[in-house]
Amino acid sequence: MNHIINANDLVNSNIKDIVIANYKTAEVFEKYNIDFCCNGKRLLKDVLQEKNLKGNDLINDLINIIKSESSAEENFDEYDLKKLIDHIVNVHHKYVIEAIPIIKTHLEKVISKHGEKYQFLLEIGNLFSQVSKELENHLFKEEQILFPFINYLVNCQKDGEKPRSRSFGTIKSPIRQMEIEHDAAGNILHKIRELTGDYKLPEDACTTFTLTYEELKEFESDLHKHIHLENYILFPRAVELENTLINK
Ligand SMILES: [Fe+2]
Repeated sequence: MNHIINANDLVNSNIKDIVIANYKTAEVFEKYNIDFCCNGKRLLKDVLQEKNLKGNDLINDLINIIKSESSAEENFDEYDLKKLIDHIVNVHHKYVIEAIPIIKTHLEKVISKHGEKYQFLLEIGNLFSQVSKELENHLFKEEQILFPFINYLVNCQKDGEKPRSRSFGTIKSPIRQMEIEHDAAGNILHKIRELTGDYKLPEDACTTFTLTYEELKEFESDLHKHIHLENYILFPRAVELENTLINK
């Protein structure tokens, strides 16, 4: 089920299976107001017929999402700093900002249906709210302070100028703060993973329960990629650039 990428396979699949194979497809069903959760055991072609939808747009949307998920890895080490920042903001920051309200809605739904039986879901809900708040703050600081400063250093290098001094001293100090915040976010998502027993679904899990676990897993995995790009590529290169400019 992981590689349904042609229209024929899609229309002959159950909509719940399409969502489970690739949870991002849930957005498409939500967009067309199709219940993929409690009414998910239906073939896509039957749903299209029932809803009187031609289906081409919907199927194209699904295929685009499935294909974008399997696009090739890029060599970020070869990116210049501005391009790397654009990538981080346009891909990872955008993802975090868009995923948070979706995951929150699904978590609320799972908690209201299953929270009494599986009490750890409430703690997950609280932890996710906490990490969301912290991350929104964190991304704002990066986009408003740190990243513009790195772009400023790149411009200084281009224009052969020495950077002016800043109230925060060298760039190492805001970077240290960002790294502390990365650790904090990573730890909360790790705690969520532990509470779910490594995302092991209970036998009576409904589609939204399954979907929420997939979304949380993806959120953690995206954060890992995102932090990797910042901690191991962007930040060390920005420190090196600043050193070179200061010691010129
Ligand atoms: Fe960050």
